[in-house]
Amino acid sequence: MPVKTPSPGDLEPIERASRDEITALQIERLKWTLKHAYENVAHYKKAFDERGVHPDDLHTLSDLAKFPFTTKAALRDNYPFGLFAVPRAQIARLHASSGTTGKPTVVGYTLRDIDNWANLVARSIRAAGGRPGDTCHVAYGYGLFTGGLGAHYGAERAGCTVIPMSGGQTEKQVQLIVDLRPDIIMVTPSYSLVIAEEFERRGVSPEEISLKVGIFGAEPWGEGMRNEIEHQLGLDAVDIYGLSEIMGPGVASECIETKDGPVIWEDHFYPEIINPITGEPVPDGEEGELVFTSLTKEALPMIRYRTRDLTRLLPPTARSFRRMGRITGRSDDMMIIRGVNVFPTQIEEQILRHPQLAGTYQIVLTRDTHLDNVEIKCELQHQCSDTVTSAEVAQIAKTLQQHIKTNVGISTRVTVMKYGTLPRSQTGKARRVFDERPKQN
Ligand code: DLL
Repeated sequence: MPVKTPSPGDLEPIERASRDEITALQIERLKWTLKHAYENVAHYKKAFDERGVHPDDLHTLSDLAKFPFTTKAALRDNYPFGLFAVPRAQIARLHASSGTTGKPTVVGYTLRDIDNWANLVARSIRAAGGRPGDTCHVAYGYGLFTGGLGAHYGAERAGCTVIPMSGGQTEKQVQLIVDLRPDIIMVTPSYSLVIAEEFERRGVSPEEISLKVGIFGAEPWGEGMRNEIEHQLGLDAVDIYGLSEIMGPGVASECIETKDGPVIWEDHFYPEIINPITGEPVPDGEEGELVFTSLTKEALPMIRYRTRDLTRLLPPTARSFRRMGRITGRSDDMMIIRGVNVFPTQIEEQILRHPQLAGTYQIVLTRDTHLDNVEIKCELQHQCSDTVTSAEVAQIAKTLQQHIKTNVGISTRVTVMKYGTLPRSQTGKARRVFDERPKQN
């Protein structure tokens, strides 16, 4: 597939700016963000005061390391709106994603935040080779998840004709792609392969599929997966990264001409890599935990937010901004299942709702050709273990499956076993998750 190299007019000036210009802009915006957070969010005022730092203490980029980190716990402790830095009436939209407990993480945006977000997704689409007049099929889920609406607003801003398909209904997805002939698809990498299978089932060859480029993210994927997707759908596949707490899709996105890792839109997000154990910043090129500070966000400024994603910062290539490497893992126990973020505690909560189920369980993740499968292995309570009938066991499994589907949002296979069947940990820390999915390379 011929790859279009962008002409200079396709890029915003800041995408070609010198490092000095970028640094100056980052410092100016960091000063604003620190002040905005300190003056308008009680959590930040307290955290800065306890650390003995003040927004005026930032003079250079390295001064940021003096400021405290923010974690998902801060969002949970201030649920739902406690970290917002503007009055609730100025919040134009809310999104939500999984929290470590049953409560979701709620994030908010002012109209200007949504405007910036649309611009950054539009920039990401241009980096992928998309141009005004292209048709863009959005198969990320619409709703509380940031994927669908984030992609949608960005594609509109890029001047595309948007097909707001959302996820699921594979046959309809494929029919629409055949009939409306979109140029671009935005979807999770795993679901794109399900779409590819449906094309194959219909006898449509990759050359016949209208799609020229796919912008894939929301879950880890590697070069092997890239090759497979490109081959099966006959398109160029690029990587888009983001997280709800920082914005949603479009925090970083890959350029089609280099395909060498997502470019971090450093004019809006300041990245650091830290040692996840000591919290000390590590030099560019070294692997560690990715930390972001927002530079322009009004509703939910984020200071040194610990993403838990493990990766490294790479030097600029196609743009003046630095890039990030593939996400090699996470420093917490969050699982990403078919693009949905799930914490083991969310499953545990559903198991423990059932009076006949005990607290020992395992979550086994496998992948058939493309899609993640989840099996929940759990045990009956000791006292009823020998008395329940097999019909009752089947009913318990069905109920748990429904509860997980409704409350956590994922489909599972549930196996209910007798008390004492599952191995007990000898070391104190129970191993709950058995991720047997092939590693991404
Ligand atoms: O997944 C936002 C998004 C939507 C990004 C669509 C790209 C496309 P959350 O649901 O908050 O937001 O999940 C964020 O997903 O911390 C990573 O662990 C993972 N993730 C997102 N993009 C990638 C990617 C959206 N390209 C969490 N590669 C993040 C690997 C990714 N992991």
